[in-house]
Amino acid sequence: MAVTGNVRYPTPIDEAYTGLSSEELDCRIAAAKAALGKDLVILGHHYQRDDVIAFADYRGDSLKLARIAAELDARYIVFCGVHFMAETADILTVDEQVVVLPDLNAGCSMADMAAIEDVEACWDLLTERFGDTILPVTYVNSTAAIKAFVGRHGGLTCTSSNAEKVFAYAWTQKKRILFLPDEHLGRNTGVKLGLSLADMAVYDPQEMALVHPHGEGDVRLILWKGYCSVHQRFAPRHVHEVRRRYPGIRVLVHPECSYETVQLADDYGSTEYIIRAVEKAPPGTKWAIGTEHNLVNRLAKEHPEQFILSLNERVCPCLTMNRIDRPHLLWALENLVKGTPQNVIHVEPEVARWARVAIDRMLDLA
Ligand code: 13P
Ligand code: SF4
Repeated sequence: MAVTGNVRYPTPIDEAYTGLSSEELDCRIAAAKAALGKDLVILGHHYQRDDVIAFADYRGDSLKLARIAAELDARYIVFCGVHFMAETADILTVDEQVVVLPDLNAGCSMADMAAIEDVEACWDLLTERFGDTILPVTYVNSTAAIKAFVGRHGGLTCTSSNAEKVFAYAWTQKKRILFLPDEHLGRNTGVKLGLSLADMAVYDPQEMALVHPHGEGDVRLILWKGYCSVHQRFAPRHVHEVRRRYPGIRVLVHPECSYETVQLADDYGSTEYIIRAVEKAPPGTKWAIGTEHNLVNRLAKEHPEQFILSLNERVCPCLTMNRIDRPHLLWALENLVKGTPQNVIHVEPEVARWARVAIDRMLDLA
């Protein structure tokens, strides 16, 4: 089934796939991969579960996977990530290439917080108030329709790896940025680039209103009121608690965490940044990491010479990312072998064209 936008209609997998043993799943996935050979590339995001990422031909954060997708010539790309990542892969590949998301329920709660109709209403309100002074920038964690909107209005996408570079560029184009859909990444990036909190306003799509939580300064950055349900669960109290329990521990968080948490941390950065920081650290380093659980657990396993724990041990993994499990992967692959692709992600050509403009502006910057 072809899917675009926020609404998804999952195709249920065959019951025959749900009761398989672990060995059978591994064997049949390996066999389907072998049968598809060079026709298939599996991409896996770092937040994916271990037993699925084991089958990825490439693993990376959203920026790295977008760059890889743009270079691939495989006929089938199976994306073990979330819906917006698969849409990005479809936008960056040619029509003959088929992008499959093994479970259409693998959405992103943050991306779903910005519906195109609400963004258009916001834009009308902002341009009435501020005139032609705003460049829209969207986090890649957004639907293709939002990316297309941004592309049509001269803007571009960013990821957590390049948000500073993208913001710095955007301010050379217009006085103000509308950043969506993650309030926190936007605020943390604005502060990093020297803005005061008073120079940032928040647009609340529920109220359809602009609010000024830190006073009304010279508005340079307008933040869409959206958040990541995983990263918002790392709070300042967790930083205080982990430092009390483990003196000398370094707190390292993702910039989707709140401003207050990021300010208290020793360091912060994108998923790739976090991985590199751990890889470079000397044995014996102690880390409390505020990002998705699967990645933190994997880092702990891969670096037994260091002490690594989650900043909040009661936080759960990204539940939507974790919808991609081995039964869904196997079902998707065996359907490709049969020549009956399922859960094909196809972005409408007009949306894809403008979304690509926004993505290419980002890729050209780096
Ligand atoms: P990265 O850009 O770090 O891959 O982040 C993607 C994401 O969904 C973070 O929650
Ligand atoms: Fe979306 Fe958060 Fe999951 Fe990333 S971790 S995919 S932002 S819900």
